[in-house]
Amino acid sequence: MENNDIKTERAVLAGLSAGSMDISERSTDISMQELAALVETAGGEAVGMLVQNRPTPDPRSFIGDGKVAELKEFIERNECDLAVFDNELSPSQMRVLSEELGVKVLDRSGLILDIFAQRARTREGQLQVELAQLKYELPRIFGQGKDLSRQGSGTIARGPGETKLESDKRRIRRRIYELGEELKTVEKQRGLRRERRQKEAVARIALVGYTNAGKSTLLNALTGAGVLAEDKLFATLDPVVRQVALPNGSQALLSDTVGFINKLPHELVTAFHSTLEEVRQADLILHVVDVSASYYPSQMQVVEEVLASLGAGDIPCIRVYNKADQAQGPLPQDGVAISALQGTGLEALLQAVEQALSARYKEISLVIPYDKYEAMALLKREGRILEETHEGAGTLVRAQVEEGLLWRLKRILGQGETQ
Ligand code: GTP
Repeated sequence: MENNDIKTERAVLAGLSAGSMDISERSTDISMQELAALVETAGGEAVGMLVQNRPTPDPRSFIGDGKVAELKEFIERNECDLAVFDNELSPSQMRVLSEELGVKVLDRSGLILDIFAQRARTREGQLQVELAQLKYELPRIFGQGKDLSRQGSGTIARGPGETKLESDKRRIRRRIYELGEELKTVEKQRGLRRERRQKEAVARIALVGYTNAGKSTLLNALTGAGVLAEDKLFATLDPVVRQVALPNGSQALLSDTVGFINKLPHELVTAFHSTLEEVRQADLILHVVDVSASYYPSQMQVVEEVLASLGAGDIPCIRVYNKADQAQGPLPQDGVAISALQGTGLEALLQAVEQALSARYKEISLVIPYDKYEAMALLKREGRILEETHEGAGTLVRAQVEEGLLWRLKRILGQGETQ
């Protein structure tokens, strides 16, 4: 049975840059290079690329009949197994192209979905990707004609015990419903875990960045966590949360999130909403930028746009210019330059984190009765005591505390008053 798993397949890459397209939709050198990296990440081999320029996309064959003929000749001469398009194709264009080229056709979204499917490890990640794939495939089912069988295997229904996908739309819709229900349960559990962390009043820091920026490497460098870091796109799909110690001795929780990428299929953004919730709930965002990539400013822009679309645009953010060891030129001054791999700049980064987080602290003054040593112990452990004076009724303390800690202190002291 045919499937989307492009491991070891030889791929020709095709793109279209049409004046009528939105600039972000057009194929450029950068997006074609990135597409080649995506093909390699999926385990395939990019053997060549063709980019067509024309005023508008051809409604039937997308790149136009002449270019299709040229592509077909290239495919035959180079024994390619598939053609990967940099742009999103309509279901009917996909069918026309696969019939005329005589090979399997994937578009950028389909390829990204395949990579996600190969890489999802946790149950939640797998459910999210399967759901996104089904939503993507649903309108394309009839468009795939003879390829219907590919719905039934490969990356989509990977892993033991997973239901084999049916080619019929009704069953797929039912599966979409079931997945939605299952995800709700998993998301609820994640919500509970998040709530527990919130009550603990520990600062939450989210690592975000373009895929391959070095987020996992940084998480490992800061926390010693054994997270997979690979020179591949999207090595991290499932969120990882680890504890990190700040220079002042306090602790914060650091979470790694899925890498962002230009033209990320919107099915995926929706599917990963609960994962990305970690970002929305963060007190501080570390935006990790790969400064060894010559086009990093455009990657930063993509990341910032995604953050804004998630409603996380207002969360305090530190730009972390990573891979400074391989920087091409001078780095911007509005962030911290580091090399997560070589471990340089990490102290300065932690200082910056501490400073940004201290903005979360409130300064309070309160009297803690002498018999409320529990409150005092808590304050000593989790707050920052600036001054202590012993008075008749108890200890007058001036301290910096976080919102959650203040709430817990009040609860302890409040209980004392009612006793
Ligand atoms: P995704 O999971 O795709 O989002 O990637 P990521 O951002 O987690 O990147 P990851 O940590 O997997 O790193 C990607 C590649 O960059 C790996 O090969 C790392 O070794 C390399 N890398 C990370 N930090 C540095 C650095 O400071 N300098 C250099 N030269 N390479 C680095």
